[in-house]
Amino acid sequence: MKIGILGSGNVGKALSKGLAMSGHRVVVSSREPDHPKHASWTKETGRSVGMVAFDEAARFGETMILALPWGGLEDVLETIDPAYLKHKTVIDVSNAVYFDGGPRLLHNETSAGEIVQQLLPDSFVVKTLNTVSDQIMAHPHFSEGSPVMLMSGNNLKSKEQVRTLLKDLGWSTVIDLGDISRSRLQESMMIACVISEKQLQAPGAAFALLTR
Ligand SMILES: NC(=O)c1ccc[n+]([C@@H]2O[C@H](COP(=O)([O-])OP(=O)(O)OC[C@H]3O[C@@H](n4cnc5c(N)ncnc54)[C@H](OP(=O)(O)O)[C@@H]3O)[C@@H](O)[C@H]2O)c1
Repeated sequence: MKIGILGSGNVGKALSKGLAMSGHRVVVSSREPDHPKHASWTKETGRSVGMVAFDEAARFGETMILALPWGGLEDVLETIDPAYLKHKTVIDVSNAVYFDGGPRLLHNETSAGEIVQQLLPDSFVVKTLNTVSDQIMAHPHFSEGSPVMLMSGNNLKSKEQVRTLLKDLGWSTVIDLGDISRSRLQESMMIACVISEKQLQAPGAAFALLTR
């Protein structure tokens, strides 16, 4: 599948590598695609992953991934021709949080997932991967247990597409929580995960669901 990633930071890089390893064609995008800071990474990932401008990534991707800081997300979306995102699955991994003084959600009456869906009314937003660190987003290995990955979104077909991509990234247990309003649960869970990782001094941990 052709995948366009908006954002070239930790998440953009981790997911582009993971998806390219599974045979997908991926482009990552940046405010400055030609900046020398991207040169070492372009070498590392090889020719299967390209670095382009946001608009170009949106034109290329059959499925899109938003891997942008919350504070910059709306501005980046405004630079993109809406036609390029229309009727596409848009994976939202963002977290709208304050980290100062312990992590806290920025919005208590809504969620980043719901806000992204409002910003992109003609796209099918699926929230996922926001609960885990970029270190374990692709092909995670754990010394014990099998973690779960959660997703939510309004469109069933898009969620099935995302389930397949998550499997390609090594997430074998994927739970569909329901419509995009369920991203409130995922975003709260992210806070719980960050606090748990800190208390256990276990960066790159994930929640598992134990079954009998
Ligand atoms: N890192 C994690 O472990 C993790 C885990 C779960 C969820 N998330 C979420 O995923 C999203 C991306 O996280 P990240 O860690 O990849 O962030 P990051 O490393 O800071 O990268 C974000 C990239 O977005 C680009 N960008 C575009 N507009 C921007 C703006 N106005 N301000 C700053 N950067 C801008 C920057 O690339 P250019 O400078 O090249 O344009 C930057 O490299 C966030 O919403 C975060 O909450 C992160």
